Amino acid sequence: AIDPNFEANRDVAEQHEGHRVWGPVDEPEQLGIHGTHVAVDFDICIADGACLEDCPVDVFEWTDTPGHPESDIKADPINETQCIDCMLCVDVCPVDAIDVDPG
Ligand code: SF4
Ligand code: F3S
Ligand code: ZN
Repeated sequence: AIDPNFEANRDVAEQHEGHRVWGPVDEPEQLGIHGTHVAVDFDICIADGACLEDCPVDVFEWTDTPGHPESDIKADPINETQCIDCMLCVDVCPVDAIDVDPG
């Protein structure tokens, strides 16, 4: 599961589509955590898609990650600033790849 303390335990490696990427990043096998308020651990995501389907405000979009061992697309929190903290995505992800930090 995603580390809920990732902000303390990781460093920002880069920016992607306006959000932070928390490292380590070593493409294509190791991609880190995308987003901060809505954070998706790309190294855990298996592209289940429930988060994209269920988010009421369309925070997520698919992004291509060819060569990653778990899946070649990931749910990217492109619109994390739109999040209304409903926690649906956290509840539905089968591999606990998402952390949302209300407040
Ligand atoms: Fe979308 Fe709710 Fe998840 Fe925020 S907590 S990203 S609004 S599903
Ligand atoms: Fe990935 Fe979990 Fe969404 S596996 S696509 S973050 S439901
Ligand atoms: Zn991203």
